[in-house]
Amino acid sequence: MAVPLLDLSRQYAQLKPELDAAVINVLTHGKFILGPEVKKLEEEVATLCTVKHAIGVASGTDALLLALRAAGVGPGDEVITTDFSFFATAGVVHRLGAKPVFVDIEPDTYNIDPNLIAAAITAKTKVIMPVHLFGQVADMDSIMDIAKKHGLKVVEDAAQTIGSEYKGRKAGSIGDFGCFSFFPSKNLGAGGDGGMIVTNDDANHDLCRILRVHGSKPKYYHKIVGYNSRLATIQAAILLVKLPHLQKWSRKRIEHAIKYDSAFADLTNLKRPVVKDYTTFHIYNQYTIAIPDRDEVQVKLQEAGIGCVIYYPVPFHKQECFAYLGHKVDDFPVANQAGSQVLSLPIYPELTEREQEEVIEAIKKIVS
Ligand SMILES: Cc1ncc(COP(=O)(O)O)c(C=O)c1O
Repeated sequence: MAVPLLDLSRQYAQLKPELDAAVINVLTHGKFILGPEVKKLEEEVATLCTVKHAIGVASGTDALLLALRAAGVGPGDEVITTDFSFFATAGVVHRLGAKPVFVDIEPDTYNIDPNLIAAAITAKTKVIMPVHLFGQVADMDSIMDIAKKHGLKVVEDAAQTIGSEYKGRKAGSIGDFGCFSFFPSKNLGAGGDGGMIVTNDDANHDLCRILRVHGSKPKYYHKIVGYNSRLATIQAAILLVKLPHLQKWSRKRIEHAIKYDSAFADLTNLKRPVVKDYTTFHIYNQYTIAIPDRDEVQVKLQEAGIGCVIYYPVPFHKQECFAYLGHKVDDFPVANQAGSQVLSLPIYPELTEREQEEVIEAIKKIVS
């Protein structure tokens, strides 16, 4: 039996009447740009994340771009971030004319290693931008301590981590800004692109709202040049239907993770995801294993019809577009090792017991 890495049609089947009605309602009222659903979703996400403000934007990438810009990042500045993430994390820093300064990761969580951050700080550093990879929040207390000591702002790339918790605190609520993605494969996914910035600071909030409408306030008066980056009303309407199910869906992912963990416990050459003591809620956007002969294992899994994917094969310092930064290939050894060993398996909530058994059997056969 083939097992897809992700099958979003099952989620639609579950919620079809509500989703159809929500979309038709937007088509009927016609307030496609910054309609009432956007405001309602902003309020609900702010409540979920226990923050004062939320600002809906066009994508997770734009959430990062606008948050960095609001944090004052511009040409000549440096932003410290992980070497191992989805491209958007580093891409937005470059797009603002700033320099992405990469730091190696922890071998167990694949998140930025806080012990290496201080050495990367220079007089030009403006922001530290940790990424909460695969659904687990980075070690935020350590990161916030360093930021405070050096007078730096913190932008949390929480694109993969909505609803997850660090020492009981919600992802995105700890730094100056938290940024979420509603890309369809996320735990809370829209029917297209979408994103959200959260913050507790009134001035940060005002600036992000202005930045998303070309920098205008009032309309047609521009003190600054901003972006066209609004969360589409139709996406907000879809997300409002899905949001009440997020916690239940994330718990289902945890159940799947626990099952994988126990099934793989005896496979000594397979590294399972590590959940830190400080992680009070891991939302498992991905269940990512590591294996030395990963490429071979991936081919065999694909031949067996098991969906699996490499998040991410190439750390930032090895990307051609960042060659100007002058890194050597073997800089950041932990990120390099992760890039050559990680493999993410199906973990979506609708994965059936039978399908998960199939994945487990295939892995056991191939890996042992
Ligand atoms: C870690 C990380 N940062 C940023 C993004 C960008 O989000 P989006 O695809 O919504 O622009 C993503 C998601 O794709 C992501 O996984």
